[in-house]
Amino acid sequence: LASWFCVCSAEDYFLDDLIGLGRRFDGIGGLSGGGATSRLLINYKEPYRSQILDYLFKPNFGASLHILKVEIGGDAQTTDGTEPSHMHSEKDENYFRGYEWWLMKEAKKRNPNITLIGLPWAFPGWIGNGTNWPYTFPDITANYVVSWVIGAKHYHDLDIEYIGIWNERDFNAKYITVLRDALDRAGLKDVSIIAADGNWDISNALLTDPYLNEAVGVIGVHYPGTTTVKEALLTGKRLWSSEDYSTFNNDIGAGCWARILNQNYINGRMTSTISWNLIASYYEDLSFGGDGLMTAEEPWSGNYVVESPIWITAHTTQFTQPGWTYLDTVGHLAQGGSYVALTDGKGNLTVVIETMSHNHSQCIRPALPPYSVSPQTATFRLKGSFAALTELQQWYTKFDFETKKDVLFKKTNSIKIQNGYFNLTLDVDEVYTITSVSGGQKGLYPDPPISAPFPRKYFDDFNVRNPPFSEAPYFADQTGVFEYFNNLTDPGPHAFTLRQVVTQRPVTWAYDADQTISVVGDHNWQDLTVSCDIYIENMNGGVFIAARVDQAGESVKNAMGVFFWVFANGTYKVTNDIGGKKVLAEGLSGTQPGIWHTLTLTVKGYFAFGMMNGYPLWKNAVVLQPKNGWAAIGTHTYEFAQFDNFLVNAET
Ligand code: GAL
Ligand code: CA
Repeated sequence: LASWFCVCSAEDYFLDDLIGLGRRFDGIGGLSGGGATSRLLINYKEPYRSQILDYLFKPNFGASLHILKVEIGGDAQTTDGTEPSHMHSEKDENYFRGYEWWLMKEAKKRNPNITLIGLPWAFPGWIGNGTNWPYTFPDITANYVVSWVIGAKHYHDLDIEYIGIWNERDFNAKYITVLRDALDRAGLKDVSIIAADGNWDISNALLTDPYLNEAVGVIGVHYPGTTTVKEALLTGKRLWSSEDYSTFNNDIGAGCWARILNQNYINGRMTSTISWNLIASYYEDLSFGGDGLMTAEEPWSGNYVVESPIWITAHTTQFTQPGWTYLDTVGHLAQGGSYVALTDGKGNLTVVIETMSHNHSQCIRPALPPYSVSPQTATFRLKGSFAALTELQQWYTKFDFETKKDVLFKKTNSIKIQNGYFNLTLDVDEVYTITSVSGGQKGLYPDPPISAPFPRKYFDDFNVRNPPFSEAPYFADQTGVFEYFNNLTDPGPHAFTLRQVVTQRPVTWAYDADQTISVVGDHNWQDLTVSCDIYIENMNGGVFIAARVDQAGESVKNAMGVFFWVFANGTYKVTNDIGGKKVLAEGLSGTQPGIWHTLTLTVKGYFAFGMMNGYPLWKNAVVLQPKNGWAAIGTHTYEFAQFDNFLVNAET
C-alpha cells in the first residue's frame, strides 16, 4: 500500500496464537519492605486506610496487584527503617510483630488469589552467631525462614507461595539446598524458592549444579534493565524481575513502569515484575522517598495520593491474570515503543501497548540506552483464535509533559474489528490496553483530607493494653526495634511503655548505627522541646532523646542532630552526632539503671538546653547545625531500655 502521502508510518503486527505461544505470565506485584516502606500505612484512620488498600489490591479497581512480596523482618535497617523479626532471639517466637502479616491479610481479603512472597534482607544477630553472615549454620537459617512460613499459615492462615534467599547479597548453594530440604520436610513442597534476588549470576550455578538446579523454582533478578543473559535462558527456568522500578512516582516514574512492564518480557522473557516499593508509606526524607506505586505518608492528616503508576499497573493487571500466556508475537513498534499480547487460552486476548519516550521513562537504574519514539500508525492483524473477535475494549493513558493534562486509564471507544484487523494511531508517551475482556474499572473514592504537616504538639503515653501492632504510631525505627511493652514487674505509672528490644547487632543488610534509634515527627522541625521518661535496664547502658535528627534510613549511622544522653554510670552527654563523638556538653547526672528519669531537651536557634526530672541540668550548648530534623529516642548500644510519656512541642 502506497503510504508516501502519510506523514506517519504504518506497520503490520500479528496477534496470532497458532504459530506458538510464549511463556506463562506470572503476575505484577508490589514489595512491602526492604525496608519499612509501609510503616505509616497502618496508622491511617478508616475509611482512608481501606481506601488505600483497595487502590492497591482490590481486583478491577486500581493497581489490582497479582503479587504481594514482603520482607521477612530481620531487626535491622533495610533502607527506610528496621522491620522486626519473628525471632529476636533463638528462644523467642512471635508472629504478631510489625505490619506485614496485617498487610498480607488485607491483600488476601481483597484478592484471595494474590500470590505471597517472603524474602529476608537481614537476620537477627543469633543467626550469624557473632558474624555478619547467615550461612555458617545453614540448618539454623533454613529453620528460621521455614518457621516464618509455618507461622504465616498457623497464626494468619496465609499461604506463602515463594521464599527468597538473602536480598542482593551472596547466595550460597549449600544453604539453598538445605532450605529446599527443610521446606519439604515441613510439608511445604509447594513453596517454591526464588533465587537469588540480585544479578543473573545464579544462572551459571544452576547450569553446573544439578542439586541447586532442582532446589530453585524461579530465577529472580533485580533492576535488569529489561534484558536477560544467555545462561538464564538456558536454565529453562521462569525468569522474574523480582524487584524493579524504585523511581519517584511522578509521570516519569509511571513511564518507567509502563516501559518495563512490557519490555521485561519482550527483551528479557521475564514473566513477573515486582515494584519496589508497593506504596511510599514512610517519611519522605528517608532513603528513596516517594518510590512507591502511590503515596500515603501522612496518616496524621489522612491525605494520600493515587499516583499515575497505579493506573499504569491497572492497564495490565485488570485484563490478564497469572496463568495467562504471552503470545509469541510481542515486540517493539517500528517507530519506538512496544506491545505485548496475552491470552487465557480460551479465546480472550489482551494487548498492552506503550510508546514511552526515552526521557519520560527513565528508571532509577540501570542507565537507559538512547532510543527514539515518534507518532505512528499500527495495524494489528488478528489471526488464529482471535480471528473470530469482532469487538475489543480500549483503555487509554496519555502523559502530556507540556500541559500536564494527563489522561489516566480512561475507557474510550471500543474497537469494531472488520476484515480481521484494527488500526491504532499512536502518539508518543501513551499506553493502550486493547482487550476482549469486558469489565475493568477506574476505581474512585472521594478526595481524602488535604495534606497537613505532622502535628506540632504530640504526646504518647504508650498505654495500650492490647495493641493491634507492636509499634507505636509514627515512630519509625532506624536501628533496633521499639515495641509496646507491658511492664509486669513495675505495674505503677509505667506499666505500659515502649521498649527497645534488640540486644545484639543483627546480620545487617545496610549500615546500621551502633546505637539504636527511632525517629518521629516532621523533618522540618527546627525549634522544639522533646521530653520523655526513660528507664535504663542495662548496668552499663545509656539512652538518649534527640531533636533535629537530619538523616536516617541507609545513612542512619551518620545522623547528626542534638542528642541528649544519660548513662547508667551517673553521667550525661550532649552530642551533635549519633555516634557520640562530637560532644557539646557533658557532666554528672546521677542517673542509674532501674529508675525512671524524665529528660527534656529544648533546641532554639543556635542553643540547646537540657533538664532532668524538671530541673535544669545543662544549658546553652551551641548547635551550629543541623538546622532541622526529626525528634528521636534511642539507646547507647544494642540494649533493653524503656521510654514513656513521649512529648514534642515544636515551635517551628
Ligand atoms: C534495592 C533494595 C531495596 C531498596 C532499593 C532502593 O536494591 O533491594 O531494599 O533499597 O534498592 O532503590
Ligand atoms: Ca505509659
